[in-house]
Amino acid sequence: MTTASGYGSEGYGYIDGEYVSMSEMRLPVTDLGFQLADMCYDALHVHEGRFFRMNDHLDRFEHAIAERRYDTLGLDRDDFAEILMACVGRSGLRNSMVNIVATRGSPESGHKDLRSCRNRLMVWALPYYSVVSEEETKNGCDIVVADTIRIPPEAVDPTIKNYGRLDFVRALFEAYDKEARYAVLLDGEGNVTEGRGWNIFALDSGHLISPDEGVLQGITRRTVVELAEKLNIEAKLEKLLVDRMRGAEEIFLTSTAGGIVPVKSIDGKSVGDGNVGPVTQRLTDMYWELHEDDAYTTPVEYN
Ligand SMILES: Cc1ncc(COP(=O)(O)O)c(C=O)c1O
Repeated sequence: MTTASGYGSEGYGYIDGEYVSMSEMRLPVTDLGFQLADMCYDALHVHEGRFFRMNDHLDRFEHAIAERRYDTLGLDRDDFAEILMACVGRSGLRNSMVNIVATRGSPESGHKDLRSCRNRLMVWALPYYSVVSEEETKNGCDIVVADTIRIPPEAVDPTIKNYGRLDFVRALFEAYDKEARYAVLLDGEGNVTEGRGWNIFALDSGHLISPDEGVLQGITRRTVVELAEKLNIEAKLEKLLVDRMRGAEEIFLTSTAGGIVPVKSIDGKSVGDGNVGPVTQRLTDMYWELHEDDAYTTPVEYN
């Protein structure tokens, strides 16, 4: 018998109105969140006992719930905040990744009328993790440009954060086949979109560019745009052709899970001189400094 250790075993959760340990979190296989990826979620983090931009995450989550038409949750902003607090509080984690997930729920019959489902909410807090390793967060990661294209926004709206991610899965296996670990996906016209769990920025002729369409409107991306303004660096959300990205002076990924992550090569070719660029480093330092700012953080109530 294996013991409860490793990813996913430590932490605390909430499902169907009850607080439970991670090993007790269970979703019925009839839930359409599982069967159809008919769900939405948000992921936020706690750094040194404080939530970062909690209200911005909950704004995005509430918008997603409304778009999915999950109207049987019966919970409001204060309820969500209380459940998030309670999960982290009970976990005792000072540094945590917290997922808040809503699913369509289970239908009343095999006919599976979506309107017959009682929507479900679950939350869980795990020890903090990054989309890449610690070493890569510090010194940079290598990415490949996948042949698999991102699911078009006309089919699935990427601004509603969701687990319908088989495009990322296929792209990641392309990366593994090339001895790489991370892949960025393009749209059907050769514009850069994003990767699993992150937005991407390129520094080109002193300007920062991050794709505007076909991507999640990341909270970390927004933070970077705000910080760039303080540095008098123009940061634009606009189309980014893959060849323009390949010629960039600096490239970095942004994610709640890891913050700002430098990219040191694309398809085996160094970005700049292959070291972490000065703009990336400055933004990273400022990003973590914001975690001590009361205007951006909410303290967790631990018992
Ligand atoms: C597809 C995708 N893009 C971008 C991001 C980054 O968003 P945020 O900065 O809000 O974490 C995520 C986060 O998980 C994501 O899943």
